[in-house]
Amino acid sequence: MATNAGDDISGIVEAVGSEVFEYKQGDRVAAFHRMETPHGGYAEYAIVPASTTFHLPAKISFEAAAGLPLAFMTAAIGLYQMLRVPPPTEPGEKDFALLVYGGATAVGAYALQLAKLSNVGSIITVAGRGIEFVESLGAATHVIDYRKGDVAQAILKALDGKKLHHVFDAVSSGNTHQIVSEILVANGGGKLNMLDPPTDKEWKWPAGIDVSRTYVASAYSEKHADITQEQANADSDFAFLYYHYLARLLDEGRFKPHPHEVLSGGLGGIVEGVRRLHDGKVSATKLVVRFVDSSFHTMVVVLTALQNCRYSWSLVFIVSSWERIK
Ligand SMILES: NC(=O)c1ccc[n+]([C@@H]2O[C@H](COP(=O)([O-])OP(=O)(O)OC[C@H]3O[C@@H](n4cnc5c(N)ncnc54)[C@H](OP(=O)(O)O)[C@@H]3O)[C@@H](O)[C@H]2O)c1
Repeated sequence: MATNAGDDISGIVEAVGSEVFEYKQGDRVAAFHRMETPHGGYAEYAIVPASTTFHLPAKISFEAAAGLPLAFMTAAIGLYQMLRVPPPTEPGEKDFALLVYGGATAVGAYALQLAKLSNVGSIITVAGRGIEFVESLGAATHVIDYRKGDVAQAILKALDGKKLHHVFDAVSSGNTHQIVSEILVANGGGKLNMLDPPTDKEWKWPAGIDVSRTYVASAYSEKHADITQEQANADSDFAFLYYHYLARLLDEGRFKPHPHEVLSGGLGGIVEGVRRLHDGKVSATKLVVRFVDSSFHTMVVVLTALQNCRYSWSLVFIVSSWERIK
């Protein structure tokens, strides 16, 4: 059977398996579909694991929710499971510095919001056209503009003598691995979490850098080359907890979905959306396309702006209730 790669799902529950205890038909939910398996978002109905599903508060639209499941969990696993940043449930200020490289990416912006909830003392981030948005989150203590060049030196200057030993690279492309390495080496080493390995096969990590990789499939216990099965199982329990926590944060307005823009023209809007992405005209925004524009059901496509992204098209299916489809 062909796979169906739409992995960010938001919609209305149509049916639940016999062992599902916390969702029922008609519930508004968002979910992370199991990647590279059938029954994803490129279809009228999607099937998702209950463990990576969460209730959607009425105040969050399906379109806004479409950009949450995968990117939020990537940020959460990176910060808490990989970098071991103290969680928000641990009270008090965490007096250390954290660098989130790429604060205007969806993953980076979610990491910033989480770091703020964790009460991390110094949060440094890097952005360009998305600076205004990043500042609006009120999370980062320093925002470095990568367009001005020499990002490593600008970050070291912003640290003003404070030591930095935790880096989350939410861009993980181009030369970001070199920049974050330079910063960590200047600080005597530390933990670095990457989302994708450097494409430069000759690259050697300098001594003193403890590199880990987040691959969000561990949210449903899938092991990858950089983690053990035990870690993947732990990430799955963690994902279950944090998706439920996210529902509460959204409901209380303590966490915001990434900005999105609904493109006009249904499926035809995708071409224009991809063109804008290709031309570098999209910043700090998820492009959303209504796939089926009717009062019965809606499909949206979320596009990501980073060109190297394997999730560059995440189709989101709004599951309609059977009653409404009839
Ligand atoms: N490993 C995993 O499980 C996993 C999961 C999800 C995503 N990812 C990866 O995570 C990355 C982010 O994905 P996303 O969907 O969050 O991206 P996104 O929202 O599409 O990111 C778009 C933003 O990237 C920023 N950006 C581009 N180049 C930059 C640079 N050199 N320095 C700083 N910011 C830069 C731009 O910021 P400005 O507008 O400020 O220029 C732009 O607004 C991608 O590389 C993706 O492949 C990995």
